[in-house]
Amino acid sequence: MNVHADPVADKRAEAQTAEEGIALQEEQAKYDSAFATDVAMQNTLLTPRFYTTDFNELDAIDVSPVRADWDALIAEMEADPNKGHFKKTEAWDHVDWDGMDPALKKEFIDFLISSCTAEFSGCVLYKEMKRRGTNVDVTKLFQLMARDEARHAGFINDALREAGVAVNLGFLTQKKKYTFFRPKFIYYATYLSEKIGYARYITIFRHLEAHPEHRFHPIFKWFEEWCGDEFRHGEAFALLMKTDPKLTSGANVWWIKFFLTAVYATMYVRDHQRPAFHEALGVDPDWYAHEVFTKTSALSEQIFPITLDIEHPRWQRTLETLHRANVAIADGKATGGVAGKLKELANSAKAAWCFAALYTIPAKRHDRPDSVRLEPVY
Ligand SMILES: [Fe+2]
Ligand SMILES: [Fe+2]
Repeated sequence: MNVHADPVADKRAEAQTAEEGIALQEEQAKYDSAFATDVAMQNTLLTPRFYTTDFNELDAIDVSPVRADWDALIAEMEADPNKGHFKKTEAWDHVDWDGMDPALKKEFIDFLISSCTAEFSGCVLYKEMKRRGTNVDVTKLFQLMARDEARHAGFINDALREAGVAVNLGFLTQKKKYTFFRPKFIYYATYLSEKIGYARYITIFRHLEAHPEHRFHPIFKWFEEWCGDEFRHGEAFALLMKTDPKLTSGANVWWIKFFLTAVYATMYVRDHQRPAFHEALGVDPDWYAHEVFTKTSALSEQIFPITLDIEHPRWQRTLETLHRANVAIADGKATGGVAGKLKELANSAKAAWCFAALYTIPAKRHDRPDSVRLEPVY
């Protein structure tokens, strides 16, 4: 007997469209908990958000300047190398949720909810673009990416369901607040989140390959193929940006620097909120952050004319101060009253100062290759 038999989840892993995948998830949703959905509903600077954009502007993109690379990438995605990958198999070891150290359990569930929300945020945005667009190139791409993200979010939810929690994705789609970003900001933010997602998943996967004793949950075994999807999504956004050189030159370089700084700093602060999780993985969060930033920077040279100077003496020091300010903000909120509010305000100002200190570190400029396409090498 297959102990993992869940026919709905198995069907979902094979789903060809995001709509089909989401419908199957709603069939599973009767088990989903208010707790996990509440966490996913939160909107703070550090929690994953849902985005909306000017879909007409996106629809007007002409991919002719990158046609050959574009067609090759779409063909790769249509071949669907991960069809059927995102389901539990015999490799899915039993997870002793009840025996798990409570601090680890809390942080790990938080990690899964946040990852699920981020995956689903991509799904919702891509699906909407596919629904509203008329440009066959663009809608095809977004349909394929939405398909992948629906599988990713659904698979994380399967893992959460075993712990007695899961995010109600249908509810989230209807009720979570959407943040509007102009298309160019969607490109910068989404490109980076796809590439940093790839770098995060592959770094954990390679680390656990070398240290399997730290693999405290089976989901990490799925990360290698998983990050292949994220890599391809990032490639697609690199090609979209490549269609218009203005997007990555002139004043827009300041925006690119802004998004690089925001995405890196957010990752640092968010990960440092989970010490027990990183200890269980046998990973020093400072080492991990540096490793992921190094990989993401190397990849983003394919399209961005600058990278952040993460070796600058001010970089690490300021990230640490930012992390401490963030802990103090949470403390202030928890304390409440006038003293709590003052602590929160003082540390919010400190956090803003830290961001400015990071942003003003001179960036490194470099020449970009003629062809943007890369292969996953890590
Ligand atoms: Fe994903
Ligand atoms: Fe993705």
